[in-house]
Amino acid sequence: MNAPPGPRALRDAFGTFATGVTIITGTKPGGEPAGVTVNSFTSVSLAPPQLLWCLQQDSTSMDAFAPHRAFAVHVLAQGQEALAMHFARRATVKFPHGANPAGDAAPLIDGALCRLDGTVEAQHAGGDHVIIVGRVSAVTFGTGDPLVFQAGVFGRFAPLPRARHVEAWETFEGDWF
Ligand SMILES: Cc1cc2nc3c(=O)[nH]c(=O)nc-3n(C[C@H](O)[C@H](O)[C@H](O)COP(=O)(O)O)c2cc1C
Repeated sequence: MNAPPGPRALRDAFGTFATGVTIITGTKPGGEPAGVTVNSFTSVSLAPPQLLWCLQQDSTSMDAFAPHRAFAVHVLAQGQEALAMHFARRATVKFPHGANPAGDAAPLIDGALCRLDGTVEAQHAGGDHVIIVGRVSAVTFGTGDPLVFQAGVFGRFAPLPRARHVEAWETFEGDWF
């Protein structure tokens, strides 16, 4: 049997999977705004409307995403790479002073391709990460092209020539070619 892969090989292997990039915001119990750059975001369920992301266990933002707290997932657009890197910084003041949202609301970031608002439903153990499941209460669409992340590099999405629209939530029964 092969030895299990080390962290470097695992990072490289996970990194081959191209993803979008999100910034997920919330508010800590003391009222301090929190925001983290996340590419582990994924859809979970349509009914009920659920999504998830994986947050490293030692994230300084963990308290903001306790059950029942509000979150906002911002799906980033082309041109928001610097914002992504800003929210990938640890334990710095990520929001300008005075930009605190009212009460427990999640702070909002302009210019996203889409925003999914909701409340945290559950946190599940996931090794050195915590799997956070959120219930979606509203979606808001913006404009632009998606920001893509692969093998540690930001890029863009390029549809294939003659690409057809696929409804990923339905079983595909047609002929592809
Ligand atoms: C493109 C990109 C994707 C990332 N995805 C995740 C992720 O899915 N989960 C996570 O915990 N950290 C992820 N990070 C790292 C966090 O953004 C970073 O460690 C975090 O913001 C640290 O701040 P915090 O301690 O306030 O959470 C990602 C960073 C980048 C640049």
